[in-house]
Amino acid sequence: MNKHEAAINLSLLHTNTRHDSGPKHVTGTAEYIDDMAEPLGTMHAYLGLSTKPHAEVLGMDFTDVLSAPGVIGVLTNADVPGALDISSAHVHDEPLFADGVVHFWGQPIFAVIAETRDQARRAAQLAKVDYRDLSFFTDVRSAQAAGGKEVTKPLKLERGDVEAGMSSAPRRLKGAITIGGQDHFYLEGQIALAIPGEDEDVIVHSSTQHPSEVQLIVANALGIRQNAVTVNVRRMGGGFGGKETQGNLFAVVAALAAKKWNRACKLRPDRDDDMSATGKRHDFVVDYEVGFDDSGKIHAVDALYAARGGFSADLSGPVTDRALFHCDNAYWYPAVRAKSQPLYTNTVSNTAFRGFGGPQGMMGAERWIEDIAYALGKDPLDIRKANFYGTDTDNITPYHQTVEDNIVHRVVDELEKNADYQARRQAILDFNAGNAILKKGIALTPVKFGISFTATWYNQAGALVHVYKDGSIHLSHGGTEMGQGLYIKVAQVVADAFGVNLDTVKIMATSTGKVPNTSATAASSGSDLNGMAAWDACEQIKTRLLAHAAKLYGAEEADCQWVQGGIDVGRKFVPFAELAASAYMNRVQLSAAGFYKTPKIHWDRATGKGHPFYYFAYGASVSEVSIDTLTGEYTVDRVDILHDVGKSLNPAIDIGQIEGGFIQGMGWLTTEELVWDAKGQLRTHAPSTYKIPLASDIPPVFNVHLTEWSVNREPTIGRSKAVGEPPFMLAMSVVEALSMAVASVADYKIAPRLDTPVTPERVLMGVERLKREARG
Ligand code: MTE
Ligand code: MOS
Repeated sequence: MNKHEAAINLSLLHTNTRHDSGPKHVTGTAEYIDDMAEPLGTMHAYLGLSTKPHAEVLGMDFTDVLSAPGVIGVLTNADVPGALDISSAHVHDEPLFADGVVHFWGQPIFAVIAETRDQARRAAQLAKVDYRDLSFFTDVRSAQAAGGKEVTKPLKLERGDVEAGMSSAPRRLKGAITIGGQDHFYLEGQIALAIPGEDEDVIVHSSTQHPSEVQLIVANALGIRQNAVTVNVRRMGGGFGGKETQGNLFAVVAALAAKKWNRACKLRPDRDDDMSATGKRHDFVVDYEVGFDDSGKIHAVDALYAARGGFSADLSGPVTDRALFHCDNAYWYPAVRAKSQPLYTNTVSNTAFRGFGGPQGMMGAERWIEDIAYALGKDPLDIRKANFYGTDTDNITPYHQTVEDNIVHRVVDELEKNADYQARRQAILDFNAGNAILKKGIALTPVKFGISFTATWYNQAGALVHVYKDGSIHLSHGGTEMGQGLYIKVAQVVADAFGVNLDTVKIMATSTGKVPNTSATAASSGSDLNGMAAWDACEQIKTRLLAHAAKLYGAEEADCQWVQGGIDVGRKFVPFAELAASAYMNRVQLSAAGFYKTPKIHWDRATGKGHPFYYFAYGASVSEVSIDTLTGEYTVDRVDILHDVGKSLNPAIDIGQIEGGFIQGMGWLTTEELVWDAKGQLRTHAPSTYKIPLASDIPPVFNVHLTEWSVNREPTIGRSKAVGEPPFMLAMSVVEALSMAVASVADYKIAPRLDTPVTPERVLMGVERLKREARG
């Protein structure tokens, strides 16, 4: 290859490079843990679950279990040699199995180990458990009524004088919104395969977003040190936050059994048990008061964010914190007080889910915007615009960080124009005036989402890059792949750094043995953190190779430069593979560990002040819906999205994230409903009763665009922005559009105040209520 040919290879960054697993996904050859060849003699575990929402466990009789065919043994807490603790928060409030008291229906109480999965599953049903019932409650309002016991310390954010702001506001409104939870419904369920090794060693293949935490929890449970445990993750079939902490249980059970019987052990619950025994998105009840004036400008907000925490802390602290961090969405509050209430309930411990509390916080903001609009008889979009963050004194958040990168006005203006919002809204008003049964609605909502982990120490990443003698490259980093395209983005960074083709870079499975002490792949920060760490590793190798090339060809380093395909040493072009070979012969190190930590961020939870986010991601969407006022049924007819990902690392992947995020958000806000019955049992634990959106629910008109002009003002990798979570909240426009359609039955004079999910039942009840109230 000569210099000219090499230069034809264009940079891979910012291109529509296809997902590395794409062809394997569609041909069924992508290997998930349950597809892996099982080591000889692999045992299978199955969980025994509580059938009470709150009870003392007086005794467990395993006689029938142990005599069932194929059963090898039973695991209980008594078999845990080390710490009886799988809690992510390390607050020791979550034992492996219920410890004397069960706190929710579906809580794991033991595990059966058998020769086959079917044998283990059948035998688990044969245990006789003796309970003494205790009183219980499952929802937020009952938890508040029972005294409001909290699973973790609440947070308060406050800025300005709320009392003064409220009393001087010409108008005030009080209200409450109930926001439902959500099951992750990852296609690949929770699973772990543990393989024992010599001494204390154990290898765990875990479907987890957080391999380093699984490593630590397994080590603690076994009473061994972290260096004896290796956790590997090739890919997940979706995580969505549901595998940030919830994989711990499965990994520990598999590892305990593997070490106890010195045979490999696999644990894969079926969908019902997965949905019963693992945490979900927190549902919230937000009680609020808002003070405003006749122009719709907000003067003060005072709100309490109560969340169904479940029986233990898990991530309820950081999730409710993030709800408060997003109580503003894109709006400036001159005075604000927001408090969280992470409540104990007799339900599974709720956990991370795309947006991590942010979506619930933002729904609150959109609710009082809507209240104000109906109180004043205005288009909610006008109220939104009247309250957007500005660029002067009106850009300080409730947590005292200044918004420095505000592009919400431009995003909203462009979308309003390109989606033809005004004309379509007028057409809908006309349509509604002329139709008694079918009604339409349209709404435009913005998104502003803070990027960085609020646990500041999580904002670090490592990578390990090897160049082999033939010029091929091994890439490892701390991030995990769950379908979001992190692996391909980081591979693009590495290929771009060395100027080589993508097929030169082999993407390795994530392993705690390759890169230690990693953070969960979460908070949408995967590519920001791991992309930069990989880039750092490449830069180290490139610096060495450049010095080597200059020396080898007798050139000045200043005259040499990296070009596509290798190094230009002035007189001569040296291809990458040739460089690697000669570097080896000259004893130049061809491997490097990279590291990155996010600059600028700090956060003091005690004072509620700091700079927790490195930057913000923005977006906006317009949704149009039709409802049938006789049945409450509806369709989402058209959606237009304009979303900011900075300078996209991979526009095709990013658009996929935006489409998927929106549809998943729409499911959360419309059809996905979790129901606990009077006995405290979760009744929605399979797709027969829990309705996620289908391909057929994709709006017939679905226009998704990136803000092509956007560039991250911070020096992130390629000036890109995180994309994983922010688009989820774009689905809020569906709720607001449904709200307008419902409001039409009372001539837009009464705020519909729909709780979410806005199921057809809720639409129908909203229509009936508004008709009643309009009649007086
Ligand atoms: N996309 C797919 N296909 N599958 C997933 O599980 N998880 C989401 C988002 N997009 C998810 C996804 C969540 S909750 C997060 S935090 C980010 O991806 C994590 O990956 P990233 O940091 O690399 O964006
Ligand atoms: Mo995402 S909820 O941060 O895993």
